[in-house]
Amino acid sequence: EQHPKAVIVIFGATGDLAKRKLFPSIYRLVRNNKIGKEFAVVGVGRRPLTNEEFRHNVQESIQSSIEDSTETDEFSSHFYYHPFDVTNPSSYNELKTVLHELDNSYNTEGNRMFYLAMAPEFFGTIASNLKKEGLTDTKGWSRLVIEKPFGHDLPSAQTLNQELREVFNEDQIYRIDHYLGKEMVQNIEVIRFANAIFEPLWNNRYISNIQITSSEVLGVEDRGRYYEHSGALRDMVQNHMLQMVALLAMEPPIKLATDEIRSEKVKVLRALRPVNEENVSDYFVRGQYYSGSLFNKSVPAYREESNVDEQSMTETYVAGKVMIDNFRWAGVPFYIRTGKRLKEKSTKIVIQFKDIPMNLYYNRKEDLAPNLLVIHIQPDEGITLQLNAKKTGSGVYGKPIELDYCNNCLDGINTPEAYEKLIYDCMRGDATNFTHWDEVALSWSYVDTISHAWKKEKAELAFYRAGSAGPKEADELLERDSFHWWHVG
Ligand code: BG6
Repeated sequence: EQHPKAVIVIFGATGDLAKRKLFPSIYRLVRNNKIGKEFAVVGVGRRPLTNEEFRHNVQESIQSSIEDSTETDEFSSHFYYHPFDVTNPSSYNELKTVLHELDNSYNTEGNRMFYLAMAPEFFGTIASNLKKEGLTDTKGWSRLVIEKPFGHDLPSAQTLNQELREVFNEDQIYRIDHYLGKEMVQNIEVIRFANAIFEPLWNNRYISNIQITSSEVLGVEDRGRYYEHSGALRDMVQNHMLQMVALLAMEPPIKLATDEIRSEKVKVLRALRPVNEENVSDYFVRGQYYSGSLFNKSVPAYREESNVDEQSMTETYVAGKVMIDNFRWAGVPFYIRTGKRLKEKSTKIVIQFKDIPMNLYYNRKEDLAPNLLVIHIQPDEGITLQLNAKKTGSGVYGKPIELDYCNNCLDGINTPEAYEKLIYDCMRGDATNFTHWDEVALSWSYVDTISHAWKKEKAELAFYRAGSAGPKEADELLERDSFHWWHVG
């Protein structure tokens, strides 16, 4: 396959995402020979930096991925910095000249990727200026990559989308949900559609419930200002959690083409049972952490974090029961939970199968354990299947055993970073692992009713200690249905 060629323009190049994810991912793409020499990166930001200073930042950010330090000068020589004022047309004009020159010197054929990794209030302005000042007017392709948040509710997302669509077609817009770049999230589809032993069971006759957990150790760090208005529901559920639900629940696409997969995911999102003000507390729990300790260090309460209101009602934790009212899933709860300042960093999916019709191995003390399929997303990547087998020794009792597959143990720890895959996909024009407008709109409308109900204080805020496993209300949510969260290692 030919190396894709492009000039990548990063808006927000002095920001955290660029440093932590984007530069290292581009470096790995080069190192892994996915892109060749025909690329350049233009960092754009308000701060006045020289190319040298910018390249120094780039080199620093890739330190931990470097294998051979002599390569780094060559690598960083592809990076250029351009001080920029997003509201000033002459900034765009200058940038246009820079891009033309780079097109020539790097032979990038007019291909341009505009990566918006900065404050979302400028997304619309930037897009329309790019068009007005002729930056998208080249003989190659132009693509727009949009970081989250894509709006903060349905109306604001619609406004943003209209602004973008005045300039770019839907197929030029790449909305990032970085969970879709994760190796094991991409694996959901393969596990489901390449295995004869799962697909026939993948429905309400054989699956009793599905549990998706994404727990974090980090608090809000320096993102208080953003997070106060977002909370876990908008920050994690609207995008990452519902995307995982859609991948687990969708019908098999007729083929593995972007449009086919999208349209199956959209159907799942259309079938989500809406929650309303009256029943929100039957379906969703919101929580917030108070002070506690993590790894023997005491940490403050959410309300004591900087840029957070002392009486903040923002949720740092959400647990929910998502129902999909269609033929395949009627009656099967998809339980989701996610939160900050929990005891471990871990994302997992547990599929619990229904019990067999009759238990011949009841040993008076315990019921037989159900079969579980566990998909470990991070930090471990792998699959575990829990079965029952004979307990060694006298008597015929069943006991649970585990078949384990560890992905990042076998293929080496260097599984590609999510952003590495997504940047590469965008350069090749593959939008499968990006979110389509319909998906964004449907998941906002689902989430909006929940946040409206919460705003009207239609549900308690459950407090949990930092460093704990979350509020007990999240356990009660499942107990009401006679289930419990599985704690699988
Ligand atoms: C981001 C959220 O989208 O996802 C963050 O804004 C969160 O608040 C992050 O920490 C989690 O991503 P990951 O890849 O660390 O699970």
